[in-house]
Amino acid sequence: MQLLAFAASLRRESWNRKLLACAVELALAGGATVDVAEFREFDMPLYDADLQAREGFPPGAEELARRAHAADGLLIASPEYNYSLPGTLKNAIDWVSRIRPIPFRGKHGMLLSASNGVYGGIRGLWQLRIPLEGVGVLLYPEMFALSLAGQMFDDRGALKDPQVRERLEKMVKGYLDLAWRLSGGR
Ligand code: FNR
Repeated sequence: MQLLAFAASLRRESWNRKLLACAVELALAGGATVDVAEFREFDMPLYDADLQAREGFPPGAEELARRAHAADGLLIASPEYNYSLPGTLKNAIDWVSRIRPIPFRGKHGMLLSASNGVYGGIRGLWQLRIPLEGVGVLLYPEMFALSLAGQMFDDRGALKDPQVRERLEKMVKGYLDLAWRLSGGR
């Protein structure tokens, strides 16, 4: 089973990227193959139907589409911006949703977020479910939100709190169990 994993942040010290790396390690240990992408690889202009008609799809959207198409599932760690998903991520979903066949359709996925706030970005993930489900992604019902993210990682990027680590382990395992069943053990 192949997963495409990315954090929807461009920030060098992104907590979401750190959290994603922890989840990726667990997914690899669980037997998945993981394509880890940098969100910067999916750089693209604001969605513009006239630009699409004139020039086709931007290379960043094509790249996201290609890598999503090659994957069975998605691991996305997304920051919460103003109680919602980042505009950059929504913009990327919008561009890719115009490609046929829709590259996200029929994929499964798990969502994570990290924030220095007490809610850990969970409100943004509820918003992120809407466009992803709209383009046909079957999302794992549970979502992992890491609050107080600034205190949670050690120097090597590992989660310091054993209880938090265990919660993440359980959730990734639960997602993988479902994903293996959906992909018929492949
Ligand atoms: C934020 N941040 C934020 N945090 C949160 O918990 N709830 C929110 O609604 C918002 N809103 C918000 C809007 C904008 C425009 C920015 C730039 C930031 C803080 C955010 O969680 C913080 O910047 C994280 O560090 C972003 O994730 P990365 O880049 O560390 O992965």
